[in-house]
Amino acid sequence: MPLEEMGAFFARRLEGYDAHMLWDIAGAEEFYPVAAALLPAFPGCRILDLGCGTGLELEFFFPRNPTARVTGIDLSAEMLEALKRKFPDRDLDLRLGSYLHLPLGEAEYDAAISVESLHHFAPNVKLEFYRRLLAALKPGGCFILADYFAGSPAEEAAFFRELEAQKRHDGLADDVLVHFDTPLTPEHELALLREAGFSSAERVGMWEATSLIRASR
Ligand SMILES: C[S@@+](CC[C@H](N)C(=O)[O-])C[C@H]1O[C@@H](n2cnc3c(N)ncnc32)[C@H](O)[C@@H]1O
Repeated sequence: MPLEEMGAFFARRLEGYDAHMLWDIAGAEEFYPVAAALLPAFPGCRILDLGCGTGLELEFFFPRNPTARVTGIDLSAEMLEALKRKFPDRDLDLRLGSYLHLPLGEAEYDAAISVESLHHFAPNVKLEFYRRLLAALKPGGCFILADYFAGSPAEEAAFFRELEAQKRHDGLADDVLVHFDTPLTPEHELALLREAGFSSAERVGMWEATSLIRASR
């Protein structure tokens, strides 16, 4: 099967997507509410959701904090449209594009969250991204990351080797954003967050291949 461009991959799978995320990923019915409960509850707080998709994490967050102002970034217009339809009365600022390239701002957010989206990028790309994300958080702000992780450094390296081989096979340039899972180990992810300047980064939960990480500015 040839590699698919990232936004198109998710747009094609919109139908049945929420049910797939909630019921086919081990621990999802627990880690979505637990991740959402780590976000601030005060009225009008500003939240950045990176790779928000159809907003599953927000389904668990808005009942706790209906006045939060949420900026959601996603590559798929179809996913953003579905999110908008779900929350017609919430304060949403939805941005179409890559969080790797769109400006994130300076000291704008009380917290950021990303669920099952960041396991597609190389360590050098993540390090630069985490530096920009840190700057976008207010002092004392936090980043909640729930994602799929590799089980060992050998497994992590194997995913990247396979991606390279697939891209060569498909004749794709290095910088084309395709859907292919290249999760890091949790230890590698935590080290990158600390290297980017987060004052603390720790794993606060684990459900099979998914770990929940909290990092503070
Ligand atoms: C598996 S879905 C998760 C969506 C949502 N967070 C959830 O848990 O239901 C991953 C989402 O990340 C988005 N995504 C992947 N890479 C992205 C990037 N570089 N910039 C913005 N969105 C991205 C995809 O379009 C997709 O909607």
